[in-house]
Amino acid sequence: MDSRSWLLLEPDPPQLQLPEDLRARDAFGGRDCGWVAQMRPFVRHFAAPGARVFDPFCGFGTTLLAAALEGREACGLEIDPARAQLARERLHRHGIDAPVAVGSLPDTPAPKPFELCLTNVPYFGCRWPETADSADARAGQLYLERDYDAYLQRLRDIFHGVRAALPEGGYCIAMAENLELGGRTLPLAWDLARVLGALFVARGERLLCYARESRPLAAGDARTDRSHEYALVFQKQRERICLDSTRDELQALREAGFGFELHGGFARWLADPGAREPADADLLLADDQAEFDRLLWWLHERHYALSLWGEPLQPPLRLPRLREHWYVRAQRRDRLGRLVRLDLSLVDQAGASATQ
Ligand SMILES: C[S@@+](CC[C@H](N)C(=O)[O-])C[C@H]1O[C@@H](n2cnc3c(N)ncnc32)[C@H](O)[C@@H]1O
Repeated sequence: MDSRSWLLLEPDPPQLQLPEDLRARDAFGGRDCGWVAQMRPFVRHFAAPGARVFDPFCGFGTTLLAAALEGREACGLEIDPARAQLARERLHRHGIDAPVAVGSLPDTPAPKPFELCLTNVPYFGCRWPETADSADARAGQLYLERDYDAYLQRLRDIFHGVRAALPEGGYCIAMAENLELGGRTLPLAWDLARVLGALFVARGERLLCYARESRPLAAGDARTDRSHEYALVFQKQRERICLDSTRDELQALREAGFGFELHGGFARWLADPGAREPADADLLLADDQAEFDRLLWWLHERHYALSLWGEPLQPPLRLPRLREHWYVRAQRRDRLGRLVRLDLSLVDQAGASATQ
């Protein structure tokens, strides 16, 4: 892979395409099958030889085939049992023995440990034939999700499972495009990037361009032929905070009259600068709703992004809800890219979590 931010892709040669007899057996006619050519550069670049590539939405096994052709191991998960069987048969015809399990993260784990997650997400609003599947296959099928927020939430749960299994430093690359739905653009790719951004560190995007004939468009018509997708490149990595800015912010909090106890890695690092660099500052707060509200508004006004388990949060927040989620994260990045990350929890919770 070179430094260009786009890849111009040509269709696969016939011997690598989904065979016609397998396509004919698919309830959806294989319309959502990707290209081996789309996956190979990412396998080569982001998985070392011998590493294993995992696709949590493996469909017809295209990613797994690309991985095997590049000398990497592969494994996949697919919710639809009939599709999983088509993937196995396709791989078998290429002499590839890669495990394809039926199910979905986070309930069903990846069949094997892996070093790279590479996938094409199932698109929202896809006209998947509802009657074709068994009740089991329908239950987790993202193509059948009716509500966009619920769809994004389920993607978040699935990629949370990817994150838990991915080793530190490993990449998670997901391909998606923005959609036309109900006469409007649904920014699925950008929303997916936001979901992934709450779990991983963003490393960049590549634009995948599919060669297609152009056609004239009436003046003012904004629709395109959507002949591109984004490959969103994320990495599991501890993001470094700016220690000086964090110290300054803690001082500003004290000057604004907020009482808190500092514990965890940041407190250890203050006591001993030779200690491991902390990933955040953990603040323990008294069980006082009014003071907590004041603190959240103060942070909000200083342009901190507040979140609860990766979901954006607007003040106020009731303390029972904070207790359920353990902590609120407050992050701020300045124009030099310096990051401050504060985790806010209640004093009694720190004691409870320490005993778990
Ligand atoms: C875009 S297709 C993947 C096609 C694949 N990249 C290929 O070219 O062979 C997305 C797949 O995700 C599957 N899927 C949908 N919801 C799922 C879930 N919750 N867990 C696992 N797979 C799911 C769909 O059945 C579909 O086969």
